[in-house]
Amino acid sequence: MFVSGTIKEARAYLQKQKKAGKSVGFVPTMGALHEGHLSLLRCARSENDVTVVSIFVNPIQFNNPADLVKYPRDLHRDLDSLEKEHCDLVFTPSASEMYPEPETREYDFGDLTRVMEGKCRPGHFNGVAVVVQKLFGIIQPGRAYFGEKDFQQLAVIRRLVEMENIPVEIVACPTKREPDGLAMSSRNQRLSHAQRKTAPILYQVLKQARSEYGDIPLHSITTKAIKTLNNQPEMQVEYFTFVDASTLQPLTEHQKVSGIRICVAATLGSVRLIDNIPVG
Ligand code: PAJ
Repeated sequence: MFVSGTIKEARAYLQKQKKAGKSVGFVPTMGALHEGHLSLLRCARSENDVTVVSIFVNPIQFNNPADLVKYPRDLHRDLDSLEKEHCDLVFTPSASEMYPEPETREYDFGDLTRVMEGKCRPGHFNGVAVVVQKLFGIIQPGRAYFGEKDFQQLAVIRRLVEMENIPVEIVACPTKREPDGLAMSSRNQRLSHAQRKTAPILYQVLKQARSEYGDIPLHSITTKAIKTLNNQPEMQVEYFTFVDASTLQPLTEHQKVSGIRICVAATLGSVRLIDNIPVG
C-alpha cells in the first residue's frame, strides 16, 4: 500500500497504473474509518484493478467550527485497516496541499441543496463539491464510490458530475448498520454510553414511518415520528421528511413519484446524526 500526502506523488503513482491499462476505483473519506467506509472500499476493489482511498478532513465543508475541531481523527488506525483491506493508494493531503489559495468557487445546485442538509448546514455542500471536484481532478478515477447514508450528498455529487462533465461513474453503496440498526458513522464515537443506547431509535422510527406510509396521512406520520424522537432524552429533531428520491423535494400527499426516501437529522446532545431509508 502506497501512502502519499502530495498531489505530485499520487499522480505519478496513478499515471504508471493507468499506462499499464489498469482501472481505478476511488473512495473519498474524511477518515475515522468504520465498516461503512470499508464496505465502499470492498465494492471498489471488486470492480477495479487499483483502489484509492483519500483521507482528508475538509475544513470548508464544516459550517460549524466546533464540529471541525471535534471531528475524530486516527490516521494510524485508518492506515492499518486499509492495509488489511489491500487498498493500493491512500491519499492523505494537508489543507495547504488541497487549498494553496483560499477557495472561492460557488456552485448552484438549485432546489437540491435548499432542503434538509443544505438548508440546515449552509455552505456545506459547496465545500463538499469543491473538494470532491478537486479530488476527482487529482485521482481521475473511472469509478467513485459513495454511501447512501449521505443520500443528499450522493445526489449533489451526481449533479456535480453532470454539470461539470466529469468522466467518472458514480456508484452508490447501501448504508452499513450496527446490529441494533444505528447507521455507522464516524460521529458515533462521540456518543456517551446513554446516548449510544438511545441512538438506534432513529432507524426504528424510520421503519415505523415506512410501514405506515399509504395507511395514514403523511403529516400525521411525520408529526408522530418527530414527537417520538423529541421525547428521547437529549434528542432534538432538525427534520424528518418524506422526499422524492430523485429531486429530494418534500413529498406531498398522494403525489406519484418513481421513488420515495424518508430522511431524518437529529442532534443527540452535541452529536448530529442523519439517516434515511427507501420506501417500497
Ligand atoms: P465521510 O463522512 O468520511 O464518508 C465517506 C463516504 O463513506 C461517504 O460516501 C459516506 O456516504 C460513506 N459512508 C459513511 N457512513 C456510511 C455507512 N454507514 N454505510 C455506507 N457508507 C457510509 O462523506 C464524506 O466523508 C465527505 O463529505 C467527503 C465525500 C469525503 C468529502 O469531503
